[in-house]
Amino acid sequence: GSKRGGTVIGHNSGQYDSIPVEGFYTQDEARDIIKYAADRHITVIPEIDLPGHMLGALKAYPYLGCTGGPYEVWQQWGVSDDVLCAGNDSTYKFIDDVLAEVVDIFPSEYIHVGGDECPKTRWAACPKCQAKIRELGLKADSHGTKEEKLQSHVIHHASDFLASKGRKMIGWDEILEGGLAPGAVVMSWRGEEGGKEAARRGHDVIMTPNSYLYFDYYQTLDRENEPIAIGGYLPVERVYSYEPLPADLTPEEAAHIKGVQANLWTEYIPTFAQAQYMELPRMAALAEVQWSKAPKDYKAFAGRMPQMIAHYDANGYNYARHMFNVAGTLTPDSISHAIMLELSTVDNAPIYYTLDGSEPTEASMLYEQPVKLDKTSTVKAVTIRKSGRSNVYVDSVSFNLATTHPVKLVNELHPRYKAKGGMTLTDGKFGTSGYGNGDWVGIVGKDLVAEVNLEDEQTVKDVTVRTCVATGDWVFDARRMTVEVSADGKTFTKVASEDYPRMDKGANAIVTHSLAFDPVKARYVRVSLQPENSMPDWHPGKGKPAFIFVDEIEIN
Ligand code: ACM
Ligand code: ZN
Repeated sequence: GSKRGGTVIGHNSGQYDSIPVEGFYTQDEARDIIKYAADRHITVIPEIDLPGHMLGALKAYPYLGCTGGPYEVWQQWGVSDDVLCAGNDSTYKFIDDVLAEVVDIFPSEYIHVGGDECPKTRWAACPKCQAKIRELGLKADSHGTKEEKLQSHVIHHASDFLASKGRKMIGWDEILEGGLAPGAVVMSWRGEEGGKEAARRGHDVIMTPNSYLYFDYYQTLDRENEPIAIGGYLPVERVYSYEPLPADLTPEEAAHIKGVQANLWTEYIPTFAQAQYMELPRMAALAEVQWSKAPKDYKAFAGRMPQMIAHYDANGYNYARHMFNVAGTLTPDSISHAIMLELSTVDNAPIYYTLDGSEPTEASMLYEQPVKLDKTSTVKAVTIRKSGRSNVYVDSVSFNLATTHPVKLVNELHPRYKAKGGMTLTDGKFGTSGYGNGDWVGIVGKDLVAEVNLEDEQTVKDVTVRTCVATGDWVFDARRMTVEVSADGKTFTKVASEDYPRMDKGANAIVTHSLAFDPVKARYVRVSLQPENSMPDWHPGKGKPAFIFVDEIEIN
């Protein structure tokens, strides 16, 4: 269970290297770590993630699974349907044995048992799990399905066992589903809602929301120049802005929020130097989130960072420098039909910029106020301090008939991928490969239907859209594109349409679709994209609808 034969390349691309990976800690090595930390006044709390995330255990003890296996240690990332069988008495004995060893090694008051990301697919089909559900008299109700009740039973079992050893149990917020074990401490990772709910029910909480504190997420939007990471975007400023006591809790409920944690999952982090790079300086921001009662001030924090960085340098740590780069925003103005460029630095260091793609130097234009862009441009900007030059900020805007014009979206976007709504599609900005970074809008189960209001009558002859494809994340290309035009925004006439084949293999790509047609006069242009509504058999999500992501609609 401690060995795998290879690892998926990139984001669950379907392609694997064949480099074996293996490793484990002996009990004595674990004790060494605990002592090293304790000498520095740090308590190590272990997490044994159950009943999901257990393929390593199932490989070694296949009889603990619903199907009996055989199982292999996974070579890709994410959530496997194969989990511990909750209808099997030996599973409960296994949990007790493992936790007994863990309690023996780790002196911490708290022991984390995971409880996250446990699909119920196998349990729903397993005679032993279903017999257990009947034996326990579990019923679906407003607190969960009968399988969620079964998961709650497993977690209660772990909690009772730990209590018998004088320890307290921590679990991820999924342990709310199907009923919380008495005294369980909840780690709220899927945002803050689980933590708030647990506090309202009188349970202690540790806040570790992936909306602020997942240090495995990217810390810049410039992914092309970063080591690959899981996704997301959590710059140090966003981490710093986190307020762990939710304003809508009563003081009594808020007293249950014990503190914060940041998570650094290491699927994409092969070296310790890279772990440092992901942690620093976000960890400095986390420290103030946890300890500071004073109103926080990001500029003041940034002003104190040079001293902190002197420590990082003195200790030879690898850290990220993004917070000292030029930050830029490009805001479309639908009145003047221009795009406003704003540039800033945390310390107001001088910014030099160019608009023609050339490398900025001290001889370039000095940024003094927002710049109005009204034609296709590439912006490059740099700040130059006594300590040296920052990285170059690069962004570009592209103008066509649609740019800065309003867009009505007929079907609602997925709540997590709304970006700036319809305007995202005409903001002049192409997205990079990260579909979640705000340059793309996403929808699932419905067509993406965008009505662009050109405001004046225009002659239109082609329409281009771009989709972002990341099949490992259930993000597929379009199956059909349709273009319709209208003079009044009510009656539309179809001018072009094209079908695209179902994808026959996995891919990560940005795909361009263009439809040309005889020139036609139009005030409104409606572009419809049909997503893949049934993923192919080769994909783990076969038969289910895929997401579609689009960054820009170009009309010429
Ligand atoms: C988690 O990130 N699955 C807790
Ligand atoms: Zn089972």
